[in-house]
Amino acid sequence: MFAIRKVNQDIIYVGADDRRLELFENMFPIDRGVSYNAYVIKDEKTALLDTADASVSRQFFENLEAALDGRSLDYLIVNHMEPDHCALIGEVLFRYPDVQIVTNAKSFQMISQFFDVALEESRKIVVKEGDELDLGKHKLTFVLAPMVHWPEAMMTYDKTDKILFSADAFGTFGTNDGRIFNDEMDYQADSFVQDARRYYTNIVGKYGAQVQAVLKKAATLDIQMLCPLHGPVWRTDLGFVLNLYQKWSTYEAEEQGVAVFYGSIYGNTESAVAALVMRLADQGIHNIHAYDVSKTDISYLIAETFKFPVIVLASPTYNAGIFPKMENLLADMKALNVQNKKVAVIENGTWAPTCAKAITEKLGEMKNVELIGEKLTIKSSLRDEEALEQLAAAIVQAVKES
Ligand code: FEO
Repeated sequence: MFAIRKVNQDIIYVGADDRRLELFENMFPIDRGVSYNAYVIKDEKTALLDTADASVSRQFFENLEAALDGRSLDYLIVNHMEPDHCALIGEVLFRYPDVQIVTNAKSFQMISQFFDVALEESRKIVVKEGDELDLGKHKLTFVLAPMVHWPEAMMTYDKTDKILFSADAFGTFGTNDGRIFNDEMDYQADSFVQDARRYYTNIVGKYGAQVQAVLKKAATLDIQMLCPLHGPVWRTDLGFVLNLYQKWSTYEAEEQGVAVFYGSIYGNTESAVAALVMRLADQGIHNIHAYDVSKTDISYLIAETFKFPVIVLASPTYNAGIFPKMENLLADMKALNVQNKKVAVIENGTWAPTCAKAITEKLGEMKNVELIGEKLTIKSSLRDEEALEQLAAAIVQAVKES
């Protein structure tokens, strides 16, 4: 059965929710699922904006057929070639033999890589930045968005209705559950923002400069609605999501507070962290969030590294280096361009506690990371209360100054 909703008079949502997928990109847990959004514009010409993941193929094609309601499909506009959106292009070409694909040269190259189809030139409309496509009433123009977060990514702006079809930008994890508009769900709730932050930071986080470039282009457009490829359509309070993207893409922390990440093999490093966070709370720092790096999926940890200005890393020494789960976090922080942080380091080791040096070296590879106080060295279990008090005082000061 088709499951579609009108976005406005001429535009229809034809996407679908996915609650079965365990790991998005086979990496990121998605407890609340994900939506693959796609849109049909019905005008003198008809246009489909992106397809969907193969997992929702049946629903997607029922939706598309219902939205077209007997009309043919004139254009398939491809804003993004990652398979969670492009997987059904081959099937669209097969089902709608007269459809023309509208996208940029890079995407056409990727289409030839992903799909074993010989696309006749007559079915290709290659567009560049600022080109226009006239559907009748709706005049569409194209905004290239390279590396947000693939090189071919682009956005489509409907000049008539002032809608930006923004590809992955402004998307989030989480299904829509029929509520396709942001004002139909509690988009300010922690759970929503957490999903949006985890989606952005892990998938797009590396490309802050490129997101900034797109935000500057978007600022020149009159945008009344954002239609992303995941999550709700933003038709109210666009400033809310734009403000989040501004912070995330400039690596600006969202709120005063501290995230504590620890590895602990037999509980001794964990005990030191417990003693530390008690002291922080005693001294008035209450926005504290502590995570066991062995227990918590790294995508949640990365989101917290973007959110908070102050970070504590506490690690056992392992094979004369960093505890592997902590090393993995540090590698991901670097890969995703985490920067502008104040970081305190705690190392543990029974015979040769040496991992603080290796952690400090890895932090030195990130931009604008400042160490807080002296590293705290534990030999097996923490006994040096004075050193702990000193580190706690330095962290409190760093949080208050952030
Ligand atoms: Fe939702 Fe980059 O694909």
